[in-house]
Amino acid sequence: MKTVVVYYSRYGNSRVAARLIAKHLQAPVHRIEVKRHRGVVRSTFSALFGRRPEIKAIPLQPEDWDLMVLVIPIWSGRPATPLKTFLAETRLAEKQVATFFSYTKTDPHKRPSRWMQKVLGHFGARLVAVGGYNISLKNHTVLKQRIWDFLAQLPPQAIPSAPSKKSSRRSPQK
Ligand SMILES: Cc1cc2nc3c(=O)[nH]c(=O)nc-3n(C[C@H](O)[C@H](O)[C@H](O)COP(=O)(O)O)c2cc1C
Repeated sequence: MKTVVVYYSRYGNSRVAARLIAKHLQAPVHRIEVKRHRGVVRSTFSALFGRRPEIKAIPLQPEDWDLMVLVIPIWSGRPATPLKTFLAETRLAEKQVATFFSYTKTDPHKRPSRWMQKVLGHFGARLVAVGGYNISLKNHTVLKQRIWDFLAQLPPQAIPSAPSKKSSRRSPQK
């Protein structure tokens, strides 16, 4: 199974989570970048009114992936607006998507998860896992635990198999 990690991060929290997830999955990482940076107030309004900021193109073709892990902050109770643009500009039909949110107060399993399910369903994709980390905790151990919980929900084929003891052991020299 070909897996790819795509993240958007304004302050770096989602980037840290994305890199850890990509390391565990041995997957390539792509970053969503907006063309014009907005202040917090404008970002909040654009999230509230469902606007889509312009983003830079990401070199990702449908044949490059089967499972996409999206790592995204929650803004105004929903996934951050650059994700909306990305989803609208990406061929998602028949694909599997998992989402890991960074947030401070919104429960990712409620509204953000429902939002993802609805939008992905609209594009013909399937949400297979949801996880998240409350950045207010500022605890790297908790972040790693949340990532493990999230990885455990992914299809088993997405998890790189650890080299078995038998195959990793060197054959004795004759
Ligand atoms: C415009 C804006 C709106 C936000 N709205 C919410 C929200 O509704 N619920 C929440 O839990 N966190 C909210 N946050 C906090 C972010 O989800 C949190 O800071 C996130 O971890 C930032 O990710 P980043 O460091 O990758 O940019 C908001 C942050 C911004 C900038």
